[in-house]
Amino acid sequence: MTFRARHLLGIEPLKPDEILTILDLADEYVDLNRSPQKHSDVLAGMTQINMFFEASTRTQASFEIAGKRLGADVMNMAMQASSIKKGETLIDTALTLNAMHPDLLVVRHPNSGAVDLLAQKVNCAVLNAGDGRHEHPTQALLDALTIRRAKGRLHRLTIAICGDIAHSRVARSNILLLGKMENRVRLVGPPTLIPAKATEFGVEVYDDMKEGLAGADVVMMLRLQKERMDGGFIPSEREYFHRYGLDAEKLAHAADDAIVMHPGPMNRGVEIDGTLADDINRSVIQEQVEMGVAVRMAAMDLLARNLRTARAGRESLNV
Ligand code: NCD
Repeated sequence: MTFRARHLLGIEPLKPDEILTILDLADEYVDLNRSPQKHSDVLAGMTQINMFFEASTRTQASFEIAGKRLGADVMNMAMQASSIKKGETLIDTALTLNAMHPDLLVVRHPNSGAVDLLAQKVNCAVLNAGDGRHEHPTQALLDALTIRRAKGRLHRLTIAICGDIAHSRVARSNILLLGKMENRVRLVGPPTLIPAKATEFGVEVYDDMKEGLAGADVVMMLRLQKERMDGGFIPSEREYFHRYGLDAEKLAHAADDAIVMHPGPMNRGVEIDGTLADDINRSVIQEQVEMGVAVRMAAMDLLARNLRTARAGRESLNV
């Protein structure tokens, strides 16, 4: 096993073999999840607390199901966005929870870097479930697992990430992961939604869907993050769909067997045509949701193993 980390805060610090360790274990959890008795006790006796400072349905449900299937005691805390404006409040909350001896903290926060900060204050494993525009590591891992299962490999693929890149932690984590695995990553979208320093990430940038999608093996669409915009990024949603929304006509420029992905939640008719999103011959959007549970089970299992080893080490040293 080559995953020794204490927390899962981002893709950035991970090495390719650590990524593969998580994905290989996740493949085993896919099988467990498809079996009638989808239960294991690798987290039995452990307490998992989900702290979501930002609205989420699928990610929170996915982490909750993952923890329950592994036998953890799972608690969801709905954090009020209004009470966490100050850094101290976040740390105070973390310290209070820490005193209750949790083993796994799953945290989503609107501020980039907040989850890293919190991880420094607690003595349990922390998983980043999305922080601001920074990282969303389990999303990139579940996307990687979906790609590997659909394409049979996770290297030397051409992947077009399209739409609102500038506001997207999903894009950032995916660019990092796919780059580490030696893929060709293209960013496609209007210049207003592409980060100014995009080319420093080793990606190619296009503002035309036809060119950006040409021959692509994977087309990853992103949600237009309206809540993170303060106006002026796009002329209108209709115009946006016309130029950048994925439909069958634009997809025809990609490879014949290209798959279509979207992290959800989707804006149908804005970044993706609803019929295409539901086309099970091209779209792997439901597989992404399925892989999400398996990847989170794998990540929590590996972190729990490392936590036990660290605690056993401290006990034997009598500290
Ligand atoms: C993503 C997120 O929250 O970053 N969604 C998710 O994890 N289900 C992407 C998005 O909000 O568009």
